[in-house]
Amino acid sequence: MTTKPMFDLAYEGGFGVGAFNVNNMEITQGIIEACAAEDSPCILQISKGARAYANILFLRKIIDACVEQYPDVPIAIHCDHGDTVDLIRDCINDGYTSVMIDGSHHSFDENVSLSKEVVDLAHAHGVLVEAELGMLGGIEEDVVGLDAEEYEKNIEKFLTDPEGARVFHDRTGIDSLAVAIGTSHGAHKFKHEAKLAFDRIERIMKTCPGLPLVMHGSSSVPRQFVDLINQHGGNLSGTMGVPEDQIARAVRTYGVCKVNIDTDLRLALTAKIREVFSTNPEEFDPRKYLGPARDAIVEMVRGKLHMLNSAGKADVVITHWKKMGEPMPDYYRATAGA
Ligand code: G3H
Ligand code: 13P
Ligand code: ZN
Repeated sequence: MTTKPMFDLAYEGGFGVGAFNVNNMEITQGIIEACAAEDSPCILQISKGARAYANILFLRKIIDACVEQYPDVPIAIHCDHGDTVDLIRDCINDGYTSVMIDGSHHSFDENVSLSKEVVDLAHAHGVLVEAELGMLGGIEEDVVGLDAEEYEKNIEKFLTDPEGARVFHDRTGIDSLAVAIGTSHGAHKFKHEAKLAFDRIERIMKTCPGLPLVMHGSSSVPRQFVDLINQHGGNLSGTMGVPEDQIARAVRTYGVCKVNIDTDLRLALTAKIREVFSTNPEEFDPRKYLGPARDAIVEMVRGKLHMLNSAGKADVVITHWKKMGEPMPDYYRATAGA
């Protein structure tokens, strides 16, 4: 399904839908098993890097298998950080139900015009659009040549401007907006204090009532996985994630409907693989290390679905989806022969 039935209920009902990055079979299975166990909707998102790494044809088949294996789990397929209209067109043709166009590093007017072009294209095919305004730390600070310290010192300047968000929404007709509210990508989100800008989120919510907000960079960087990695030959220092109680508050109170998580999946997977390698150096059966890694993802994601308050919401999402009679993207109508 698209994200619309999910966000309708999430916005009103104070929950967030986890948007988890998928790159291979074990990661995807771990996420979807957790969602099935917790009766939760989910968004499986695919970055440009993931498309190139796994080959979208293979990822699509893995996701098709998820839909077939777990028909009661509401699933949306989303393009994460799309950067060109050509890529978005490919994603629409590949059956994505939602796309992100990330023009946040462009000028306001260029971001508007790129996002609007994508909205026109995607909506014509029944696909929903997320765009971004403001600048997150991590990957995006590199784009404009700032170091993390400088970014954190000047954070107010980079956060999403509430009035700008209103104008941006009006001019583009986007379906959801990724906002810069203090998070950043990766395992080093804060240098000093781990803190979301709640005053800013609240103001954006007021200037854009009803617009689902998206929080990128929402990994909490669990201590247990960082420690496990370091105990078994890794070298991660100075890591800091978003405290889960703050994410819980953002989804329950401030219209944050989509919560993007990738780094924590990478950490869980890497920690478990490292543990097996160093405790069983004679082991070389991939099932013996990818299996425990997948189990760790299931357990971690189950916890997150409770934190997001989306556990137990699968049924209401499906009921709402059927009731609203939402047309499926063209891709699915075509493949169903309609
Ligand atoms: O926001 C970025 C996501 O973590 C995806 O990362 O481009 O390395 O796949 P990637
Ligand atoms: P993390 O790096 O915090 O997992 O964020 C992922 C993300 O925002 C993907 O778009
Ligand atoms: Zn992101």
